[in-house]
Amino acid sequence: MNKMDRAREILKKYNQTHIKNLNEELVEQILKIDFEQLQELYAEANSSEPIENDIKNIEPVKAINPDKISKEELENYIKMGEDKVREGRYAVAIMAGGQGTRLSHNGPKGTFMLTLNSEEKSLFQVIVEKLKSAQKQYNVTLPCYIMTSPENNDETVSFFEKNNYFGYPKEYIKFFKQEEQPLLDKQGKVLIDENGLIKFASDGNGGIFFSMAKNGIINDMKKRNIEWVFIGSVDNLLVKYVDTLLLGLAIEKNVKIATRTIIKNSPYERVGVLCKRNGKVKVIEYTEIPKKMRFAVDETGEMVYGESHIMCNLFNIEAIEKASTKELKYHIAVKKSKYMNEEGKVVEPTEENCYKFEKFIFDSFCLFDEIAILRGKREEDFAPIKNEKGIDSPETAKKMYEEYIAKKV
Ligand code: UD1
Repeated sequence: MNKMDRAREILKKYNQTHIKNLNEELVEQILKIDFEQLQELYAEANSSEPIENDIKNIEPVKAINPDKISKEELENYIKMGEDKVREGRYAVAIMAGGQGTRLSHNGPKGTFMLTLNSEEKSLFQVIVEKLKSAQKQYNVTLPCYIMTSPENNDETVSFFEKNNYFGYPKEYIKFFKQEEQPLLDKQGKVLIDENGLIKFASDGNGGIFFSMAKNGIINDMKKRNIEWVFIGSVDNLLVKYVDTLLLGLAIEKNVKIATRTIIKNSPYERVGVLCKRNGKVKVIEYTEIPKKMRFAVDETGEMVYGESHIMCNLFNIEAIEKASTKELKYHIAVKKSKYMNEEGKVVEPTEENCYKFEKFIFDSFCLFDEIAILRGKREEDFAPIKNEKGIDSPETAKKMYEEYIAKKV
């Protein structure tokens, strides 16, 4: 059977016959999609078990608070971390598959420019400068892996080229693309874009492990003798990409994953929170947290579920490998997305019209019985750029970043 006939058969089998006018590109798309999985995801979208039903198995986590550790012990952790970095056993990975839609930035989020202490810099440059300062401090060049999306990869690579990799050795920076999933409308039909092709969206930052394996990144890490990888976001000006304290703590506690947290500033802050479910650490995303957990306070009035995930995660290579072979669960979001209808007209919906399927990086935490949780401080660790204006905007992040630098000097 030729490809065209095979594609037609698939469309019929999976009830997708709204896709007509097949051409070569469309046929290739159809043959690539796992419709069986999509069908299951769609069924789940309509029947998924809310976390509320499992609340009896959920309890708060305990984080390690550095303020409660002796200076000596802290210095010891940092030294252990620094030694590993100096030995060249540490690498970083930047999750840069996002588009910065909420920021109204046209382009990969890492190319967003802002003025910091009178110098104009992109978010990517801020991160590379951290690697350069570690290079000086520890006399080692740390490999840097950048996850892009099929949509923003070329633009990201040419941005680095144009900027001469911000003075970092090019052979230490590697790009790899994450996977995508089709968007489904409320009836389970794949959306068609304005070019008549199937509309895809990135499969979420939890796709990083699979994509690392698929693109030879894990092998590259092994070849370079890397033991620990810090995986961070592109949009937090204060993230410590070379986190020697977190690393030392992970080594001391003999765990394969460690995460740096901060305390949520209000029940409404848009951050995921840590908890334990059936004894294992889990993050409940801000879009999914039940009311009962969001507003729970203890006898002193503190939030019971306030320990927040800020995308400062450290993974042992074994953890990355393990996560790359497990199918992390897809989370389902209802979104608004432009599409082309069966009459060939482009529709700009006014209401949410489709399902988007995303994996979350923190769903890898439960692959291990224990992970280390280190409580950081907002003013030292978390200045995110999410929105164009107001909270978590370039303006608030810039202020926090400049204050942090001023304090350090
Ligand atoms: C994320 C976290 C949330 C945390 C918050 C802190 C997840 C699922 N959510 O939420 O728990 O409290 O940051 O700021 O991790 N990205 C990709 N590919 C994708 C989607 C995202 O690389 O498919 C990258 C983005 O480029 C960015 C990071 O992941 O670096 C965060 O993405 P975003 O979707 O903006 O996260 P939040 O919703 O803010």
